[in-house]
Amino acid sequence: MRPSYGLQGRAAVVTGATRGIGHAVARELAAAGARVCVTARDADEVRRTAAELGGVGAAGSVADPDHLRAVVDLALREFGRIDVIVNNAATNLPYGPLMDVDPLAWREAFTVNVEAPLQLVQCAWQAWMREHGGAVINICTEGAGHVGPHIGAYGTSKAALLHLTQQLAGELAPKVRVNSVSPGLVRTEMARFVWEPGEEEVAAGLPLRRIGEPQDVARAVVWLASDEAEWVTGADLLVDGGTRVRAAHTATAYAIHERLRTPGTRST
Ligand SMILES: NC(=O)c1ccc[n+]([C@@H]2O[C@H](COP(=O)([O-])OP(=O)(O)OC[C@H]3O[C@@H](n4cnc5c(N)ncnc54)[C@H](OP(=O)(O)O)[C@@H]3O)[C@@H](O)[C@H]2O)c1
Repeated sequence: MRPSYGLQGRAAVVTGATRGIGHAVARELAAAGARVCVTARDADEVRRTAAELGGVGAAGSVADPDHLRAVVDLALREFGRIDVIVNNAATNLPYGPLMDVDPLAWREAFTVNVEAPLQLVQCAWQAWMREHGGAVINICTEGAGHVGPHIGAYGTSKAALLHLTQQLAGELAPKVRVNSVSPGLVRTEMARFVWEPGEEEVAAGLPLRRIGEPQDVARAVVWLASDEAEWVTGADLLVDGGTRVRAAHTATAYAIHERLRTPGTRST
């Protein structure tokens, strides 16, 4: 049996929760006794996931401020509270050298990856958390701490999300704790173009010898959401199998960057 971490009866919103990391987060929160409100753009997948987890769901893009307001309204209407927000939905586009980046695509990356998390927190703060408190967890990336080939828009937007996490942590304390989790390479659709062509080689270069699974990240999120982390705010929890410390472990080239550099690779 999983520990409840005091999440029994709490209510959580998880964006981008129909597959990958967001789905694992929503599943782990539900298993810990929380009621979950899940989102994604594909309405059928949202319905399926909400039913699977015994929660509710709202279909739409996090880039749409009306959708974010509707998500908060739905969670409050159904659960009467919002204790946890997990900003997980993101895009890894546009892919390629920054000198070729279309300004509209760049703006979309910042709308989805930075502005939407802020707006969802604003909505939840105004409607519930300012008075009652809560916990926010933003899903960043291990890659936000350094640069990499062809992922400049993604990395820059996630670095902004990391900074936003710390700024909000200071502004919203003591009522609301705001933290981030930064995954390394995880077995999901978004990252399939990196891990699928030769997973063994990538895994061999990581100190913990495997790529991540969505539940590796989900367990860290659940802990940060819970009262077990009641004195933790403004923190970034790396869940990366040792990616950040690999230089002290192996002398081989960084296989993930080699993948990103390879002509023909592309994001999903
Ligand atoms: N996988 C990795 O290696 C890795 C590493 C570091 C960080 N991360 C971060 O982890 C988070 C989850 O990524 P993932 O790998 O689990 O991705 P994924 O498997 O592609 O799942 C993405 C989820 O988000 C939804 N989504 C995508 N765009 C959305 C939008 N604009 N509005 C609402 N929902 C949207 C998708 O459903 P719809 O398509 O139906 O909308 C899906 O449910 C992201 O923040 C990502 O940056 C992932």
